[in-house]
Amino acid sequence: MKVLVTGGGGQLGKYVVEELKKDHDITILDLVKPKDNQHQFIEANLAHFEDVKRALEDTQAVIHLAAIPIDTGEVHKIWQTNVTGTFNLLEAAAQSNTKKIVAASSIDAYGFEFWSKPFTPDYFPLDEKHPCKPDDSYGMSKMIGEKLCYGYSRRYGTLIICLRLATILYPGSQEAEHWVSEVENPEFYMLPDRVQFKDSIWAYVDARDAAQAFRLSLEKLGDYDLGYGIYNIGARDIFSQVDSLELIKRYYPDVKMILNEEGFLLDKKKALFDITKAQKDLGYEPKFTWREHV
Ligand SMILES: NC(=O)c1ccc[n+]([C@@H]2O[C@H](COP(=O)([O-])OP(=O)(O)OC[C@H]3O[C@@H](n4cnc5c(N)ncnc54)[C@H](O)[C@@H]3O)[C@@H](O)[C@H]2O)c1
Repeated sequence: MKVLVTGGGGQLGKYVVEELKKDHDITILDLVKPKDNQHQFIEANLAHFEDVKRALEDTQAVIHLAAIPIDTGEVHKIWQTNVTGTFNLLEAAAQSNTKKIVAASSIDAYGFEFWSKPFTPDYFPLDEKHPCKPDDSYGMSKMIGEKLCYGYSRRYGTLIICLRLATILYPGSQEAEHWVSEVENPEFYMLPDRVQFKDSIWAYVDARDAAQAFRLSLEKLGDYDLGYGIYNIGARDIFSQVDSLELIKRYYPDVKMILNEEGFLLDKKKALFDITKAQKDLGYEPKFTWREHV
């Protein structure tokens, strides 16, 4: 397939392009040309509809990664890039022959990480049925992006999968080394200026597994009755040396329900971000754990 990867020059983009390049003809759309680029490249801003429309003229499928990937506080820029950008992409796809899209959503669509008041989910492990309650511009932009995908899928029959990615661990990155060095000291997450990071200890995903999920989604779209779907994408384990049930007790004491608690007694570091749906529908099986970086 001819696949356009928006944001293909970004951190996740590199892994996704690597994963797809064997079987697909890749074009990268980004604001800046990636270093050592070996693929066709379109320099474009997703906020400019006509440029996006032109980019989709000869494309069968899109992997949509381009975004401001955190809450930077630049609310207008986040809206323009993440919401208007996604809208432009969907509208351009509706006006062209691009009928398959796999879009990066985020665990932050539920309301984690950039909240104004600590966010406690209704239950663990967190599955896709949990309501989305973000109050920050990044989380809201991802939730709205999903809704736009749903509406366009219904109206135009575009096949769309949105992947709610946990915080991504980029192997070898400074960030990953920093995280791994801090993981021995979970109390660190109780410090007032670090408390938001507690939302990254119970759910994460290695970039190579995230890339796998994009490939599988692309392959599955259209295979069977997948007109539109949302999937959690995470690792098999938690990002902590502390057991999963103990993590809940320490950092989310107000959680009302723990589903399948016995599973956490058998597998003490079992992920609290439920990936069962992706395993069942997409055949997603995460292979990597942060523990190999220690
Ligand atoms: N990094 C994480 O932990 C994480 C977690 C969950 C979801 N995500 C999502 O995954 C996707 C990729 O994240 P990443 O970590 O690779 O981020 P990144 O910042 O490394 O990459 C994003 C890319 O998008 C491009 N881009 C930004 N604005 C653009 C625009 N207006 N037009 C065209 N291109 C534009 C940037 O130049 C960059 O290359 C994002 O959608 C992000 O929201 C990331």
